Amino acid sequence: YTADHVRIVEVGARDGLQNEKQAISLENKLELIRRLSKTGVTHIEAGSFVPAKWVPQMASTAEILTDLIQKPPVEARPIAYNYLVPNIRGIENLVKIFEQNNHTNPPLQADYPTPPPSPQATPEQTQGQGPITSSHNPNQMSSASNPAVPTSNATGSQSDRNTTEISLFAAATESFSQRNTNCSIAESLHRSLPIIELARKHSVRVRGYVSVALGCPYEGPDVDPHKVAELTASLLEMGCDEVSVADTTGMGTVPKTRKLLQTLKDAGVLMEDVALHFHDTYGQALVNMVVGLEAGVRVFDSSVGGLGGCPYSKGATGNVSTEDTVHLLHSLGCDTGIDLVKMAEVGEWITGVVGKANEGRAGKAMLAR
Ligand code: HMG
Ligand code: MG
Repeated sequence: YTADHVRIVEVGARDGLQNEKQAISLENKLELIRRLSKTGVTHIEAGSFVPAKWVPQMASTAEILTDLIQKPPVEARPIAYNYLVPNIRGIENLVKIFEQNNHTNPPLQADYPTPPPSPQATPEQTQGQGPITSSHNPNQMSSASNPAVPTSNATGSQSDRNTTEISLFAAATESFSQRNTNCSIAESLHRSLPIIELARKHSVRVRGYVSVALGCPYEGPDVDPHKVAELTASLLEMGCDEVSVADTTGMGTVPKTRKLLQTLKDAGVLMEDVALHFHDTYGQALVNMVVGLEAGVRVFDSSVGGLGGCPYSKGATGNVSTEDTVHLLHSLGCDTGIDLVKMAEVGEWITGVVGKANEGRAGKAMLAR
């Protein structure tokens, strides 16, 4: 791996909190998102537009989006706030909030922008590598077809800079698809099309998730990598900007992760269109991440303090912590734009609020120094 920019998608406020039994107040969720926004991270999952009876903890998502539109955090870099949507109803509810607030997203750029090197990155960390930009997804908007593409700069009006994104989700096994979304895999793909269409209309970028890619709570550890590759390719072809391949159960190992990434490549999936989302249930997340880096993946999902779990994956522990992820990436000379100490402070604070052990070990160590 080389000194590339690596993008972290911070999922603590969504994946991290969705499984919490005790209600977390709207105030604390907003405080978490605002504190995260000050760490240098540029992608933050902020909630889910799902029925409250399915995931009660995400019931305040409409208020979160409204707040972030009305009082957008002003940081040095634009921030993309992402919301999960399980069906067309989810994105319709999101668009309703855009309309109520007379809000629009800025026009889509051809690709996820690669931020300039962070101020704390050393010259060794940034030399010799161009940004990862090209994408070969034919459905993505190109700047050629969209000449009014703005370039982000820190002086522009903030509401023109932060963006709203969505994620839709499919699963690599039928059992998980049924439990998580009450439909078959084919049906979840079918549901995705009108969601992507509506998102495009509102310049909303779309991530796709493929859950249980390296193990399923119902079907066991041997999930067919060809199925994952097929689903990933389908989501990209349908117009997803990137697909996050998720080890929901943490059953991934180095050989399995290698095999999965090779299978994705063999199926024609480009690593620049792939993100990896590891849960650390078996303690393998960081080594699997290195496998991803070696294969060319440059986007990783993680959660502050290692918060998380999935309501439909019994026993799954949290996502790999953002603090450990950032520590690993910086040690390899990658630039994340994230200030590890600031992230560690957020981890210490939110795990205290939730009453959970802080799983961000690098963060705790940094703060104890
Ligand atoms: P369903 O019950 O089949 O849906 O659920 P339905 O269409 O029959 O609707 C049931 C009720 O919900 C109706 O209301 C609808 O109006 C309402 P009622 O008539 O009962 O009063 N409804 C909605 N309300 C608000 N927002 C909506 C919405 N849609 C319907 N969007 C459904 C199907 C897909 C909705 C459900 O299964 C669901 O929400 N599933 C999502 C579960 C979830 O959020 N899971 C966790 C996220 S995925 C994850 O964590 C994995 C990830 O981290 C990656 C990884 O690690 O693997 C991403
Ligand atoms: Mg997850």
